[in-house]
Amino acid sequence: MSRQYYIAGNWKMHKTKEEAAALAKALVAGLQEGTHKYLVAPSFTLIETVAGVIKGSNIRLGAQNMAPEEQGAHTGEVSVLQLKELGVKTVILGHSERRHNYLENDALINKKVHLALKHGLEVILCVGELLEEREAGQAEKVCEQQVSAGLAGVGAKDLSSVVIAYEPVWAIGTGKTATPEDADAIHASIRGVIGRLYGPQEAAAIIIQYGGSVKPDNVSALMAKENIDGALVGGASLKPESFIPIAKF
Ligand code: PGA
Repeated sequence: MSRQYYIAGNWKMHKTKEEAAALAKALVAGLQEGTHKYLVAPSFTLIETVAGVIKGSNIRLGAQNMAPEEQGAHTGEVSVLQLKELGVKTVILGHSERRHNYLENDALINKKVHLALKHGLEVILCVGELLEEREAGQAEKVCEQQVSAGLAGVGAKDLSSVVIAYEPVWAIGTGKTATPEDADAIHASIRGVIGRLYGPQEAAAIIIQYGGSVKPDNVSALMAKENIDGALVGGASLKPESFIPIAKF
């Protein structure tokens, strides 16, 4: 496969500075010989600390969200300029916890995608269906809608800075993983959407990560599937003992 595997850790709202530094240090050492692409996305307050630890390593620095505006009167938000200043290279956008707990919609996510790309950040755009939607046979349709709305107005040139993460909401933090076959079917359909929107080359090149209870013992079977190009890992990214084996699957 010409696409490079991309393993990302989403630390969510976990860790203090000291804990984050210790985890980052262990990952730098443990992934030194790792051959895939790697990312960690700590909370905003930890970014500077983690940046110092991973500097010069093969681990990219990510953020978990950002404001849709560059700056201004936006209480409680964090700007793309502030993230770039700390060395952030990638931002996770549209995570299901943002969509469902903080009511972010596709239009808002699309605005963030444009702003991030304008500033040269890589975007990990998360999509995924709820359990009810899967049970109603709507999983592909929901993902198609989230991908096309999230990327509305994004040109082919910028698409090379976009990664899609397919994260079925019912699999996040629940211990339930989509079977490799079910995940691959959605990944194939997302690749098809990219093909229709951009073209076959873009469809073949785009990295599509799977997320939702990825663990050391299920990662290999997922990654063996044709359309699964990496993982966005939550719970198992919080400990070197679980993240390193996933990252070096
Ligand atoms: P999980 O989270 O690995 O804990 O299921 C994945 C995610 O939300 O990115």
